[in-house]
Amino acid sequence: FVADKGNYRHFMVKEIWEQPEVVGRTVAHYLDASANRFQFPELGAIDFANLQRLTICACGTAYLAGYVARYWFERLARLPVDIDVASEFRYREAPMTPGGLALFISQSGETADTLASLRYARSQGQSILSVVNVTTSTIARESDAVAPTFAGPEIGVASTKAFTCQLSVLLSLAVYAGRQRGVLSEAEEARIADLMMGLPGQFSEALKLEHDIEQMSRDLSRARDVLYLGRGPAFPLALEGALKLKEISYIHAEGYAAGELKHGPIALVDEDMPVIVIAPRDELMDKTVSNIQEVAARGGRIILIGDGDAVRQTGLDNVAALTMPDIDPVVAPIVYAAPIQLLAYHVAVFMGKDVDQPRNLAKSVTVE
Ligand code: G6P
Repeated sequence: FVADKGNYRHFMVKEIWEQPEVVGRTVAHYLDASANRFQFPELGAIDFANLQRLTICACGTAYLAGYVARYWFERLARLPVDIDVASEFRYREAPMTPGGLALFISQSGETADTLASLRYARSQGQSILSVVNVTTSTIARESDAVAPTFAGPEIGVASTKAFTCQLSVLLSLAVYAGRQRGVLSEAEEARIADLMMGLPGQFSEALKLEHDIEQMSRDLSRARDVLYLGRGPAFPLALEGALKLKEISYIHAEGYAAGELKHGPIALVDEDMPVIVIAPRDELMDKTVSNIQEVAARGGRIILIGDGDAVRQTGLDNVAALTMPDIDPVVAPIVYAAPIQLLAYHVAVFMGKDVDQPRNLAKSVTVE
């Protein structure tokens, strides 16, 4: 395999633009399109029907994919989920009831903390499932079952296409678990299957915002601090948006649950700190819009990445808006990854940073 940037300036942006294809490929693998059902023959003896608890563990962007997936497993499969970063989990001495399932997410399959957590979970009598991009990796080899992502080789240090492929596997898995547990109807499964088949098209639509994002990034690049807000699955996406910005532009960014704004970060709001708000069309949108108004009332500068309705409902004319295509809330976290990745990318490029090889960071952290 020879890495080739093709006509792109960096691997990262090439990988961002590959997402419609690799997400489509990943979804196709787990979807029996003729029956509109998800299938996981890779699970072997792992069974969701009587499962008491799912423990999810990973690092970095893979952890944030797991964090989004917690909302899916809880809502669609009514499955109790525990999630932690692997560097904490491995030392927590968490008591685990034998018979539980532990899920590890890793692009490389070699991250030291994730592997140590896997071994701990095994010592606690858990079945081990991993979602990896590299199927020959150590984490894959030490798992009872492997559900691969089909992102292809990811070269950019900041993970992009592996993230959305992880989300695609995890949503498919949550739907599959929901059916096995008898809590998700066939009709709902078929509806989500249709939505997921539409992901490549919707992702491509979202990527068309690139020009607007590039324009916005000039202004954003002057910020010293950025606050990223979201609710529900958009909260871990806000964390991912902040992580991406930090990783490649070195701008200090913090992701926060929008509802926690009043408990601290609102004290930081002034005209110098841009607040990026992720507001997809979902049952929490109105609450997020209220948070936007609170920020605006304190003179904050808002960048809204959201549904057209959210943009209209703010009733503010000084909001810089990236209006997303209309997306069903179930699949929104996957499509909303596009603007947050592009925003970090263009800010970093505008600032002249080494986007593919950010300082002090490694693609795969194989030592503690
Ligand atoms: C490093 C990379 C991140 C990645 C994380 C976890 O920090 O820079 O992009 O998300 O490791 O890596 P993994 O291979 O386990 O997904």
